[in-house]
Amino acid sequence: MAQSRDIGVDLGTSHVLIYMRGRGIVLREPAVVAVDRDLDRVLAVGSDAYRLIGRTPGNIQAVRPLRNGTIADYDLMKTLLSELVSHAVGRRLFSRPRAVVSVPSGVNEVEKRSIISIMFDAGMRRTQMLERPLAAALGVGIRFDEAYGSMIVDIGAGATDIAVLAMSEVSVGTTVPLGGDAFDDAIIRYIRKKHNLLIGEKTAEELKINLGSALEPADTVSMDVTGRNLISGLPKTHAVTSMEVYEAISEPLNQLVEAIQSVIERTPPQLAADVFDEGIVLTGGGAALNNLADGVYRQLHIPCAIAEDPQASVAAGCGQALEDTPAMRRLLSESKRRLRG
Ligand SMILES: Nc1ncnc2c1ncn2[C@@H]1O[C@H](COP(=O)(O)OP(=O)(O)O)[C@@H](O)[C@H]1O
Ligand SMILES: [Mg+2]
Repeated sequence: MAQSRDIGVDLGTSHVLIYMRGRGIVLREPAVVAVDRDLDRVLAVGSDAYRLIGRTPGNIQAVRPLRNGTIADYDLMKTLLSELVSHAVGRRLFSRPRAVVSVPSGVNEVEKRSIISIMFDAGMRRTQMLERPLAAALGVGIRFDEAYGSMIVDIGAGATDIAVLAMSEVSVGTTVPLGGDAFDDAIIRYIRKKHNLLIGEKTAEELKINLGSALEPADTVSMDVTGRNLISGLPKTHAVTSMEVYEAISEPLNQLVEAIQSVIERTPPQLAADVFDEGIVLTGGGAALNNLADGVYRQLHIPCAIAEDPQASVAAGCGQALEDTPAMRRLLSESKRRLRG
């Protein structure tokens, strides 16, 4: 019998990850499409498109179709998803695989149906949706099928999902439009204000990843960045310190912690007590910020753990959900696309 190519898909605001049953994560690419606006033509998707960001002439634009957690451009979404899915599973399929997909929680029902229809056209026999916090929890091996509360926070680029899970569902949860992008933007604003230097998004992200920390840095490290001096208009290189990055990101970081706190405040006391005992698990690429677990603990006094390879948790959880057990079946939303004709 041909090997099953059932897949779990994390369709995030900045990355698409695909998990294949029996094989693990087989694809991890930026959720980016490069478009030539003059010719109205797609030039590249995924990693190839990402490489063009910030280096292209004006008529070529790199678009993230899900940037703010809703579908900004349906056609580009379709190109992105179908290209990456065919890339992972191949185009000539003898047996149509099943897929479990997790999208940002801001995506509405109509948009979810469009995604299912795109997946069908890409060769899937059946596509089911899995709520993002449930996917993240399954991916890190948290059991949430009993009357016991577990808290999961998935920090993406454009949005963060915060949820307390119990009895196989989200008991209290929210999605805030605040993720890694907000940290990058805060760094750009800070450097512009303090040094009259305009840096690009990629540079800001590099500063965040290399120098950023959720705890005040003990010693100073710096990184040379080049931007445009806003007074002379010319390129200029400046050494940005870890302390500056720490100051720059403190505002979005505090907002994130406040959002977690407000979910805990709305959680029934018994479940909240479980969370205080068991702690919070952080997933998503944004959870890789240096010292984030300690930083959150300092403010909330609740233990925190970061998933191993936090960016992969949601895709791994979608993969787990493909196991055809009754427990898993209950978690998936039944939105099988009706066949045409
Ligand atoms: N080491 C790191 N430190 C801080 N942020 C990181 C690190 N690695 C990745 N990120 C951030 O994680 C975010 C991407 O996470 P991801 O889970 O892929 O997003 P999404 O699920 O929205 O597609 C980006 O904002 C990226 O800058
Ligand atoms: Mg993610």
